[in-house]
Amino acid sequence: MSCTVIVGTQFGDEGKGKVVDYYGQDADIVVRYNGGANAGHTVIVGAERFAFRLLPSGVLRPDKTVVIGHGVVIDPDLVLAEIAELRQRGVTPATIYVSDRAHVVMPYHKALDGIEETLKGSLRAGTTRRGIGPCYSDKVARFGIRVCDLLDEEVLQAKLDAFLPIKERVFAAYGEAVKLPLEPLKATCLRLGAQLAPYVTDTITFLNDALRQQKRILLEGAQGTHLDIDYGIYPYGTSSNAVAGGACTGAGIPPPQITQVIGVVKAYTSRVGEGPFPTELEGQLGEYLRERGGEYGTVTQRPRRCGWLDLVMVKYALRVNGVTSIALTKLDVLSGLDAVKVGVAYDYHGQEVTAFPANMRVLAECQPVYETLEGWGEMARTTWRRVVDEGYEALPQACRRVIEFIEEATGVPIRLISVGPERALTLRRDA
Ligand code: GDP
Ligand code: IMO
Ligand code: MG
Repeated sequence: MSCTVIVGTQFGDEGKGKVVDYYGQDADIVVRYNGGANAGHTVIVGAERFAFRLLPSGVLRPDKTVVIGHGVVIDPDLVLAEIAELRQRGVTPATIYVSDRAHVVMPYHKALDGIEETLKGSLRAGTTRRGIGPCYSDKVARFGIRVCDLLDEEVLQAKLDAFLPIKERVFAAYGEAVKLPLEPLKATCLRLGAQLAPYVTDTITFLNDALRQQKRILLEGAQGTHLDIDYGIYPYGTSSNAVAGGACTGAGIPPPQITQVIGVVKAYTSRVGEGPFPTELEGQLGEYLRERGGEYGTVTQRPRRCGWLDLVMVKYALRVNGVTSIALTKLDVLSGLDAVKVGVAYDYHGQEVTAFPANMRVLAECQPVYETLEGWGEMARTTWRRVVDEGYEALPQACRRVIEFIEEATGVPIRLISVGPERALTLRRDA
């Protein structure tokens, strides 16, 4: 039995989709446990590019099962559209299950997301406007509509009867005269429920049965540790638990069953949205990383802010997730640079800071302290391919030095090195 969690250690977009797809070959079941359509996970197979928002990245392997756990907030129409698109592109997807306990993103959640972002002014996170915050707020405040409610007209009617007038009053308090007529919304919910029904199941029981049958389970985190509602840079993150613990609460995996936690670390840092970012590079070098790394949002196409790798951030993430090994991604993007910098501490008005600050003002005033490492020459894709075939020792020495520097600084082994978006451009050190 193995139960592996794959988690982002930075601000999301670390390359989790690729890493999950890669490790997916060794798993029977791949599970998403948090977030919603705010996620964009890219998987490239041959000439085909897939960007998944809700479906787990293991869905491209027809012999596997994928599960959308109850910790995910779901747009039923988007799940159905993603499945339809796969079929249209000639892909036979994995067997797909959707949790009956997952909460549903309603149209008013998306509207509220936009209004609340505007009202928050400089404290806005720059959300993806997919209704994520309002949907999780309703879950916690017990105003939520769940997938099982879409299959039960009586419960749905009772909830909409009670909740819609309250939501209208919330909109009115925000100065928006929004009407939420019950009948059309109920009809849409029931239609989507009927379409989703073949996929809906009690995924907690399914996964716990699978554990008993010694199945290999891979749990795919969305977002990253520094966007997590509890561990991230508050209030500039998202509204769910992206950390490994979220796999227990969001998929129903009992904590002692988790055997490994793989932390995905991008060789530099990127973020979409607002908030402090100590190692951000605003000039030419930031632009260079953005262009070379293709750092544009998978969901919103927004240019991602880019900067050097920040080990203060990453070490905090490795600790709170209990990361047992690192998957280092996008190392290829750094080739051709004269020097590679790695943030190892912060300077807060002359005081050295190595623990990640809670206070966003303190964080914003932290200056990164860098270790400068030698760069290595430009490498064509064909050269990377050869290196992958020949193994770790074939990497340029300066490149190995960067990898080993990260390992020494974090004390966590780097077992997977990704040097390109495709499946084939992956170097497994434990192989
Ligand atoms: P996720 O949200 O963590 O799954 O990451 P995204 O898919 O949003 O963003 C990662 C981007 O980098 C995608 O376009 C991937 O195809 C690409 N990518 C992943 N790994 C590598 C890599 O090692 N090198 C390069 N150059 N691109 C990569
Ligand atoms: P993946 O899974 C990068 C960011 C948004 C915003 C904040 C809150 O692809 O790594 P939300 O819509 O969740 O309320 O937005 O979080 N954000 C992401 N940034 N990758 C993601 O997902 C993200 N999901 C949310 O930009 O700053
Ligand atoms: Mg992404």
